[in-house]
Parts: sequence; structure tokens; C-alpha cells
Amino acid sequence: MNTLQLHATYRFLLLLAVATTANFSHATDATLRVDCGQPGHEVSDRLIGVFLEDINFGADGGLNAELVKNGSFEFPPYQLGWSAIGEAKLSAGRDAPASAGNPTFLRIEGQTPGEAGVSNEGFRGMGVRDGEKYAFSMLARTTAGREVPVTVRLVSQGGETLAEFSTTVEGSAWRPVTADLSPTATDAKAHLDVLMNSEGPLDVDLVSLCPHDTWKGRPHGLRKDLVQKLADLKPAFFRFPGGCIVEGSELRYRYQWKSTIGPRSERRPLVNRWNTEFRHRLTPDYYQSFDIGFYEYFQLAEDLGAEPLPILNCGMACQFNTGELVPMDELDPYIQDALDLIEFANGPADSRWGAIRAAMGHPEPFGMKLLGVGNEQWGPDYFERYERFAAVLQQAHPEIELISTSGPFPSGKHFDFAWPILKQLNVPIVDEHCYAMPDWFLREATRYDNYDRSGPQVFMGEYAAQSVAIASPNNRNTLRCAIAEAAFLTGIERNSDVVVMSAYAPLMAHVDAWQWTPDLIWFDNLSSYATPNYYVQQMFSLHRGDVVLPVEIDDSRPARQPGGQIGIGTFGTAAEFRDLTVTSGDQLLFDAANLDDVTKLAIEGGEWSLGDGTIRQQAARGNSRALIGDTRWGDCTIRLKVRKHARRGGIRILSRCSPSGSHMEWIIGGGGNSDHTLMAHMASHSDTPNVVDQVQGSLDADQWHDVRVELEGTQVRCYLDGRLVHEASVPAPATDHLYASATLMQESGETIVKVVNPTGEPATVELVLDGLEDGKKRCRVITLTGSPEKFNTIESPQTIRPQESEMEASGNNFEYEFPANSLTVIRVGSK
Ligand code: AHR
Repeated sequence: MNTLQLHATYRFLLLLAVATTANFSHATDATLRVDCGQPGHEVSDRLIGVFLEDINFGADGGLNAELVKNGSFEFPPYQLGWSAIGEAKLSAGRDAPASAGNPTFLRIEGQTPGEAGVSNEGFRGMGVRDGEKYAFSMLARTTAGREVPVTVRLVSQGGETLAEFSTTVEGSAWRPVTADLSPTATDAKAHLDVLMNSEGPLDVDLVSLCPHDTWKGRPHGLRKDLVQKLADLKPAFFRFPGGCIVEGSELRYRYQWKSTIGPRSERRPLVNRWNTEFRHRLTPDYYQSFDIGFYEYFQLAEDLGAEPLPILNCGMACQFNTGELVPMDELDPYIQDALDLIEFANGPADSRWGAIRAAMGHPEPFGMKLLGVGNEQWGPDYFERYERFAAVLQQAHPEIELISTSGPFPSGKHFDFAWPILKQLNVPIVDEHCYAMPDWFLREATRYDNYDRSGPQVFMGEYAAQSVAIASPNNRNTLRCAIAEAAFLTGIERNSDVVVMSAYAPLMAHVDAWQWTPDLIWFDNLSSYATPNYYVQQMFSLHRGDVVLPVEIDDSRPARQPGGQIGIGTFGTAAEFRDLTVTSGDQLLFDAANLDDVTKLAIEGGEWSLGDGTIRQQAARGNSRALIGDTRWGDCTIRLKVRKHARRGGIRILSRCSPSGSHMEWIIGGGGNSDHTLMAHMASHSDTPNVVDQVQGSLDADQWHDVRVELEGTQVRCYLDGRLVHEASVPAPATDHLYASATLMQESGETIVKVVNPTGEPATVELVLDGLEDGKKRCRVITLTGSPEKFNTIESPQTIRPQESEMEASGNNFEYEFPANSLTVIRVGSK
């Protein structure tokens, strides 16, 4: 027996011992009662799906196994991804192209003697493996009237040749050049050179390098490791292609499915709307090749056993960008696109679009039943357009369930405007989106408990807990975020009669080329890893159950107490902070005099420095903050001196900053230096922060002021220059100690209990399975736990991952200790 086995056995015995302790010798923290005799509604069999958008190099450079970027030379500029080697002169050729749909090719002219050619950089390099075979192909010709000797070389990042072959190109007609390359070493950042030892000219087009070893071995296929990760989730549905990509920043950049089918050489690339969306993550080389087009999408959905769920543009560009609208009298082509897509997916092989599907290799229909109209649209313009779509589609295809949107946020004015109309229109399924901090997900675990059962059903179509702030480049896929999502999912599962579908977003991200974080699956050019959030999705998907069982939690512990880090910050001004201390009773928790490096603070925005015991924030514009201390800090007093420099800017003093997002903020000199405001932020996307107290007042520029904040239980007192400005009671965010849901697996008779403990303490819980026959029960236990701020990386892909064990429960009433920061799935009665 090796150490691992020994460890596993030990753990098994330990769990066995814990589980069989039926006579409780000490008080438990809570009782969790599952009413096994009262099975409720069915669990939606569409509950957990996936959503793929070409963001973060998710498709090109990710799922798409193609290693050459812009092999068709159709990206503008035509040479994007390519660079000249030696004395080569590169130009865009357009005379007599290989096909009309692919009008641009590359012309290489050189000088003799000497090698000249081009190099393709791939997608942040090309990942190649020692011993594997890569299919190289291109179209080539020469107008030189003589043979042009050509060498194709795969080169490592360090400049060594990994594989090469030579050939000659002759004649002015396009001819395919193909070869297999077998690299002699593994390299994550190789590149591909096409060289000639001649003046040329050499014309090349449709250059491609693709591994033979793809998902299902398909030529020009998909990256195996990434598809396998999707398959391992057993997704019920597969949404595609977006997201904002559906909408485009302008209508001319919208996603048009018809341009993505048929021969690949004819698919004209389109600028990716994520290329310059975020200034902090510019990706100007980001295009959509449409190698993964609508055929490949339907095929992949079929491979995964997932229902396809396409989303189509509804005649509106992204409202976060131009919000360009198609006039109502020009909407018909958009609706026709939807009708044609249904025919492409489901029509007979002799129908116009069905025939194209059949010619591409799939005569059988793909069985599409769901269709989304628009992505995150809001306002009356959307509903006007949705109604037109719905009128035509519901008449022509009553078998298709339409999905409509409630806007980008899960609350707020767009959401509140949308829902009454959605109900009135009797929309079948409404797409809700939420990116927020973990506390939102904990609090909203009960969101759907009271949703109207007679109205539309809900698709929680995009969500992810953000560890720092929405779309912050510093967000990480921490266990804390994953656990909050798990708590939220207990609510979704329990209410899956109304929330029938859900998907985390975004799905994939290249570690060197992402725009948005967090993401479910990360990869580089050779490997990939699953995040804690992925494992949460997987645990809910693989252990779904068929019927919901009622759960009651009786928690004897006092409500969670307010507490957390403190922080200093600015808005619209540079400022200095000195003599900063944090005390709790007689205890000194923090003294800035002992701070030797400002980067030890958790900084967001601004330009921070430290000198002569003074912390400085030098940026004159924007918001900034620096967090200090321990997330477990409770009652304490913050004292400091502040000096701002701009008359209209102000100072922020943060407190009770929970890593789950909720915090208090005292804004001194807000509203253009006319008031002071105490706010309680509850970690939501769109909720206006809660103003607790606001008084008139100002803060003199270039003068030192004394600031003091006293935190005692729920009481907060804020003093400026010794004067009490605010006194208020601010309770901790309403989040629970435990979250749970339970289901019944009808065929096996197993009761599946999912329990989330988001707190930093283990919870000893009495599990009561009412209505289940008494007697010993074999249980499978799957646990995801660890340190809450930890996340997985390429180097350490398994820091957080689920562990599986078995145990024997002594009866239908047993005690179990749920670890801190955990999601636990217990399958009671497993065979
Ligand atoms: O998932 C990233 C983006 O977030 C999606 O494209 C969009 O729908 C949402 O705003």
C-alpha cells in the first residue's frame, strides 16, 4: 500500500468514525432536516450548462486547435500575426486569388543569395509537443516562371529547429502544399517559418498548422484537453456565441451566423469586439476567424450531449458601446436570419439551409429547441424588436422556446423595467445576468424562493463571483468566490421549477491573452486547468438528482458579525495620510509607522508611495483605495490625519471590508466638496450603495484634518477634527452560516444533500433525513474545500479540487462536520 492509499484509507476510517457517532455528546452548530417523504418538483434537466463566447482567446487561440494566426491574410492589416524574415518584402496580393471569398494572399519577394520568408507568431506562440504530428498545409504558387525552393520550419522560442520540410513551388496556379511536422521537442511558444531561397515571388494563402490529435481526431478540429474539460462537466445545454459578441460594438461588427458556415476558406474574419474593449487589456490582434462557426458549434453541442442554445442579434448593437439600432422597417433580415438558422439546425437535408448542413457532413437535424433573441439588451427598443421576432418565430416554429433578456444586471432600473413587460409578453424564458462580489451570491441564495411561478421561467445565463470588483483585472478564481456561487446554486437547484437553466461566464481564458477575469477554465498553449468554480459547476451537474426534497436549516449560532479590513482612499484628488493607527481596546492592530513598503497594502487604483511615515496617493484623478489589515478584524478604532490637494476631490475611509465584497465607506468631502456620506455597500452589481447617513460639510484642501472612525458591534461613529459627523447602526450583510439543497435520484433511490459552509469555521451539523428508512447507509461524499483566497494556476492546477470519500451513516439521523469554506455533496444510500 502506498502513502496515498494509506492516506485515503485513513480518511475513510476517520469519516466512518465521524459518521457513525449517532449519540451526540456535544451540541451541534445546526440541524439540517431533509424531508425525504415529501418529494417536490422535478429538478430541471437543463439546470447546468455552458456558455462559450470568443473572449480571452476562448475560440481562436483556445478551443480551435489551429496554431497559425491569420493564415488567410484576411485580417486587416493583412500581415497581422506575420513578420518578414531576412530581406523578404511582403505585400498583399489580390490578383487571381484562390477563391473570391478569400481575396487576399501574401506575396513574398526576396533577394538572392539568402533566405527570405515569413514567420507566424501563432496565438501568443504555438504550443507543440515532442513526438506529436502536426498537419501543415498552404496554397502556393509563383509567377517566377521557374521553381521556387521552399522550406517550412517549426522553430522553438529559443531559435532551434523543431521540425522542417522542403519542397518546390512551380507554376502560377494555386497548388496545395502539405506535410506532417513532428517536433523534436515540446515548446509552448514555438513559431512557424515559411522560407524560400530565391527571389520569388512566392504567393501563399490559407496557411495552417494543426495537431492530428484533436477532439475525436477531426482534421482542423478542436483542442482535446479543452473539449474534455467541457465534456467532464456534462453540460445540459451549450449557449453560443455570446455575450456582447452577438451584438457587436456597431451593427456592422455583429455576429452573423451565415458568414460562419460552409468552406472555411470562405469565412471572412471579423474584428473581435473584445480587442480594445478594456484599455487595461488591449488585444489589438484579436479577430474571429470563424473556424468554429455554427456548424462546428452544433457538432460540438451534439458531442457533449448538450442542447444547443444559439443567441442571435435582435437588431441592436451593444448598448455599452454605440447602441446602434436597426430601424423597425429594416428588421426583417434579422428575423429571417433566425428562421434560416432554425432551418440550418433542424430542417430536412433537402431544404435550402438543411442542405448546407448536410453538405457539411450532418444530414440529420441537430434538434435545436432553444433560441435567444438578443443578449443584454434593455429598454423599450429591445421589447419592440423582441415582439416582432416573437410574433414571427412563434407562429412559424412553436416548437422553439424563445429566450429573452432582462438586461445586464440582476436588479436596478433596466431590470425593473423589463420584468413586467416580459410577463405581459408571456416570454417563455428570461435571461438574467449577474457579476457581483461573493456576498451578493450568498445573499441571493434565496432570490428565487418567492419568484412568481405563473410567469416566465428564468435562465441565469451569465454569472460569476468577482473577488475584487466587477471585471477587475485583479479578480481571481478563488475558492471563496466558488463557494459563494455554490451557495447561490443551492437556491437555483431548490427553485429549478422556475430557474430552469444556468451558466457560469465567461467559460475560457488564455493565461497570456485574456481580457476578462474570472473565467471557468484557464489554459496556455499546452495545458489547461479547472478552477474551483469549475468544480462547483461540475459537482452540481454530476450530482443533480431528479426531484427536489424540502430542506430546513435550524442554526443555533448567532448571526454573522460585522468585521473586516479597513482602508484609505481618494476620489478626484491626490492626498496624504499620516499617523494611521488601528486599535482594538488596548491592543494596537496596525500602526503605519511600522509599514516599510506601501505595496504590502491591497491597492486598487491611484499611485501610492510611502515616505517619512506618510502614505501618499499622487494621482489627481479617478478613484483609489488601499486596504489594510485582517479580514477578521472586528470592533476597532481607526485614527489618522488626512490632507487632500484638490478642492473638489475627497477622501474615502473604508471599514468592515469583507473579502466577500460588502464594506462601509465614509466619503469625506463628497458631492464636489459639499457633503460627508456614510455608505454601506452590499456587494451587488447594480444596487445603489446604501446611503446610511449624509450631512452637509466640506474638507479644506492642503490642510491636515483629524479623522476617527469607531466600530463597535453594529455601531459606527465617524469624527472629523474631533466633531461627531455620523452615528449609525449598520448590521452585517444578511448572509447565513450554512446553505443547503437536497434532491432524490429516482433510479438509485439516493438522497443527494449539498451543503455549503462559506464561513471560516467548520460546522458540526446534525443531518436528519425524515421519511427515509432507518438503518445503516452507505454514502459517497464529495468535498471541495481549502483556503478561501487560494486559486489554481497552470503551475499548480490542483491546489483546490474536490476529494471523494465514502462513509457509512449509522441511520437517518447522523452528525457530520462540514469543513470551513466548503461545498459538500453527500449521496446517501449509494450502492
Ligand atoms: O461574459 C462577458 C460579458 O459579460 C458578456 O459578453 C456579456 O454578455 C456580459 O456583459
